[in-house]
Amino acid sequence: MFRIDDARPAVTLADPTFLADVIHGLSAPRKAIPARWFYDRRGSELFEEITRLPEYYPTRVETGLLEAHCGEVGSIVGSGRAVIEFGSGSSMKTPRLLGAIDPTAYVPIDISGEFLREAAAGLSQAFPGLPVHPVEANFMSPVALPPQVAALPKLGFFPGSTIGNLVPRSGIDLLRGMIGTLGEHAMLLIGMDRVKDTGVLVRAYDDAAGTTAAFNLNLLHRINGELEGDVPVDAFRHRAVWNDLWSRIEMHLEATRDVRFGVAGHHFAMRKGETIHTENSHKYSPRSARLLLAAGGWTPIREWSDARDMFSLILAEARPEPMAP
Ligand code: AVJ
Repeated sequence: MFRIDDARPAVTLADPTFLADVIHGLSAPRKAIPARWFYDRRGSELFEEITRLPEYYPTRVETGLLEAHCGEVGSIVGSGRAVIEFGSGSSMKTPRLLGAIDPTAYVPIDISGEFLREAAAGLSQAFPGLPVHPVEANFMSPVALPPQVAALPKLGFFPGSTIGNLVPRSGIDLLRGMIGTLGEHAMLLIGMDRVKDTGVLVRAYDDAAGTTAAFNLNLLHRINGELEGDVPVDAFRHRAVWNDLWSRIEMHLEATRDVRFGVAGHHFAMRKGETIHTENSHKYSPRSARLLLAAGGWTPIREWSDARDMFSLILAEARPEPMAP
């Protein structure tokens, strides 16, 4: 007999865009899966662990830059802005900024909903009286901001060198899209990791404790758990390589033997040594950082770097398109 219950799926339905990205990415001649799929609950936790690793300098250096310069940021951006954070994660760096600029609202945007709501709750506690409006979304698509902040002047906050995950073309699209979201005359505080010694870069993405390896391999566990995959995770190893041509660290998952596996009824084979490209992390010189921002419609107005030139924090303004002279 038919019961209503029979119509209910036995397992939670997987995110259809995750499935589409994985099938599409594994079917390509050079296999690749977008880095945003790292961030399920476990992946977000592992990333937090990465930020505390001795080799992973970006978080520490950027936090230091924020600590040292947020007063100056505050005096330039003024008070009363709505702070919109793109890819907020656990919002670890946010209190420093919010404490320095006297904002009117805070809008964290993140793809990992559970993590987002926890972080938002924590911030509401730390800043009673500050309206917090979390938005669960992929910030690569145009994001509709909550109506409560529509009329407020905006400060975009995009720390962590997350822009580095994007190839320049997509980074520029995102920067232009941010102007659409934030409005002309908005400001943007963005963190970008700098080009530096290759050994230092590679170690930051291939740490001795194996946390980055676990973060990378978690993607395969996620595919097995959520997409009915049978990927033999033990047949893959984490690789981090510097691509000098494109000025980026690449993370790959390398097959250590010939493997065959299935994902949601699709079949794949990989030869020993073949990789799945899982992340780019572009590194920028000050000049290339300015060029990227300008191409995205943002005019840099102030830049800060640490004494060892490890990382840059840039404050930019969305000026109306200037006329050619
Ligand atoms: C969150 C994109 C900034 O590229 O450094 C860290 C992610 N991947 N270790 C980065 C990451 C491996 C991180 N971002």
